[in-house]
Amino acid sequence: MAGEIQKVGVVGLGAMGAGIAQLCVEAGVDTVGREVTLELGEKARGRIAHFLTRKVEKGQLQQGARDAAMERLTLTSEVGDLGDCDLVIEAIVEDLAPKQELFRELERVCRPDAVLATNTSALSVTEIASAISTPERVVGMHFFNPAPLMPLVEIVRAELSSDDAFERAYTLGEKLGKHPIRCFDTPGFVVNRVLIPLLNDCIRVLDEARVSVEDLDAGMKHGAGWPMGPCELVDLVGIDVHVHASEALYEKTREQRMAPPPRLVAMRNAGLLGRKSGRGFYTY
Ligand code: 3HC
Repeated sequence: MAGEIQKVGVVGLGAMGAGIAQLCVEAGVDTVGREVTLELGEKARGRIAHFLTRKVEKGQLQQGARDAAMERLTLTSEVGDLGDCDLVIEAIVEDLAPKQELFRELERVCRPDAVLATNTSALSVTEIASAISTPERVVGMHFFNPAPLMPLVEIVRAELSSDDAFERAYTLGEKLGKHPIRCFDTPGFVVNRVLIPLLNDCIRVLDEARVSVEDLDAGMKHGAGWPMGPCELVDLVGIDVHVHASEALYEKTREQRMAPPPRLVAMRNAGLLGRKSGRGFYTY
């Protein structure tokens, strides 16, 4: 088995990628973050700096540890700069073609023993891996939003993943302070297989039960112990992201409950995407 993961690359520094990069630098891992432009990279660096500063202000992190963590982060717009990473996590747009294209590029530039991981929520890791000639080094590392706060990471074994790549990704999950679980490359893996249809049911109940958004959220928080209501959660995840994941799971399983409720599709089409657009079920 190849050595410990000491340097990680994160491709795509949106909400998920920036959160993952934050976890890496906090865990003492040198991290190269790649965005399409350095300007976008700097925005992500600013968000990470903000959250780490909040931790200092709240007494959860020493100032020196915060500064050292920030120094572990380097930014690039070139995939070629990921060549000396032990493991690369992809967190770009949830579409198969661009992911496959990126993995082909990663295969060209990364060391042969580097693990290539995808943070995909609902696409098949096996299909992403099928684009390259060394699919054994591809695994899923599926983090939950917000990545720095949610303890789980699903370590996904694709059809051709090697034991070595799988276990190295698992070990990195532990090093990042997460609770990793082992799973296979089945649609939605474990959590989204349950959570996506459940959230879709919740949204359908809004119309069927003529309950208000606030009351539905209160119902699930106070009656089912959820940390946040389903409408708040879909706003957090992003209505476009949730609709896309629902469509991907519906396509694979043909289960009616996976299909995105029309109300959510209409919101997505209208640009009501939740927190990121300032308006979804709630206004931010
Ligand atoms: N990164 C880093 N730090 C963050 C952050 C982020 N993205 N977002 C918030 N924080 C920090 C903030 O600094 C905040 O402190 P501050 O307000 O004092 O600055 C601190 O975290 C705590 O924030 P909250 O007070 O909002 O924390 P809560 O105790 O209310 O918990 C929660 C927030 C952990 C999000 C909790 O509400 C929760 O568990 N919600 C459920 C989330 C969930 O189910 N996520 C899974 C979504 S599904 C998914 O991701 C799968 C995908 O494939 C679609």
